[in-house]
Amino acid sequence: MKTVTIDQHTLPAIGLGTWHLGDSAATRSREIDALNAGLDAGATVIDTAEMYGNGRSERLIGEAISKRKRDELYLISKVLPENASAQQLPRSLDRSLKALNIDYLDLYLLHWRGSVPLSETVTALEDAKRAGKIRAWGVSNFDVDDMEDLLTVPNGNHVAANEVLVNLQNRGTLFDLLPWHQAHNIPTIAYSPIAQGDTLGANLLANATLKQVAAAHQTSVFAIMLAWVIQLPQVMAIPESGTIAHATENVHTINLQLTQSELQAITKAFPTPTKKEPLAVI
Ligand SMILES: NC(=O)c1ccc[n+]([C@@H]2O[C@H](COP(=O)([O-])OP(=O)(O)OC[C@H]3O[C@@H](n4cnc5c(N)ncnc54)[C@H](OP(=O)(O)O)[C@@H]3O)[C@@H](O)[C@H]2O)c1
Repeated sequence: MKTVTIDQHTLPAIGLGTWHLGDSAATRSREIDALNAGLDAGATVIDTAEMYGNGRSERLIGEAISKRKRDELYLISKVLPENASAQQLPRSLDRSLKALNIDYLDLYLLHWRGSVPLSETVTALEDAKRAGKIRAWGVSNFDVDDMEDLLTVPNGNHVAANEVLVNLQNRGTLFDLLPWHQAHNIPTIAYSPIAQGDTLGANLLANATLKQVAAAHQTSVFAIMLAWVIQLPQVMAIPESGTIAHATENVHTINLQLTQSELQAITKAFPTPTKKEPLAVI
């Protein structure tokens, strides 16, 4: 099973995204079942944010995990940039903990860089760590220059992960950010790893190479998209699914091993960029 180590925790390389879960009352209980199916299939990481449904995603997770052992889960949430100040961050964190019905987060991310100075946010995050409310902190949507700025502030080097957009359609990070992460031993959490169910316009589902590789493994193109993401060094993927069968299939993809020739064929169809691209965000 492919794993990724974050803050000395060795975790399955596929976790569960939750951005849109809880948005609709009609699908809520099915989504809770899908999250639990993902956990039953072996996932331990759940990614959420105060922003998602304005707390609805966190509340849904709180309900989904209520009968689970806390130490068998690795829970990630995110603070909005406008709440990342010395005054607001503790309030956001308490709200997230309450919604999730837990007393600590494993990882707390700055959702993206805003106008609060990084030094102020890092101090607030370190305080939260000392208070036992988070085990580690990280960032999201940081490009190389942001990461370099972060390392210049006191304790900025305690950053435990950077969560960014990585999928077969969006490969810009392969040119510079992912190698930078590797050189600094910082794991990557890849969001939208299946390009939001291939709705971002690239029509990956119709790609002949991906279809051929999927057929060889008797699986779906989505599974191949995930397998490609997690074969990148120290990269975890957090696909979202509110459908039991999808959530289960996604987590089982941890064991799908692409061959060297399959990887070469995929790289030929989806070349690694040869120059800097602006960091893509969703
Ligand atoms: N840090 C950030 O700024 C940021 C930004 C975006 C996302 N995220 C995180 O990353 C997570 C994942 O990204 P995402 O939600 O944007 O997109 P995604 O995971 O790439 O795609 C999710 C979509 O794919 C469908 N899907 C999932 N598994 C499938 C499968 N096996 N077969 C067919 N369809 C499948 C889902 O529908 P079903 O529900 O029907 O399966 C859903 O519509 C988010 O939920 C969130 O936690 C973070």
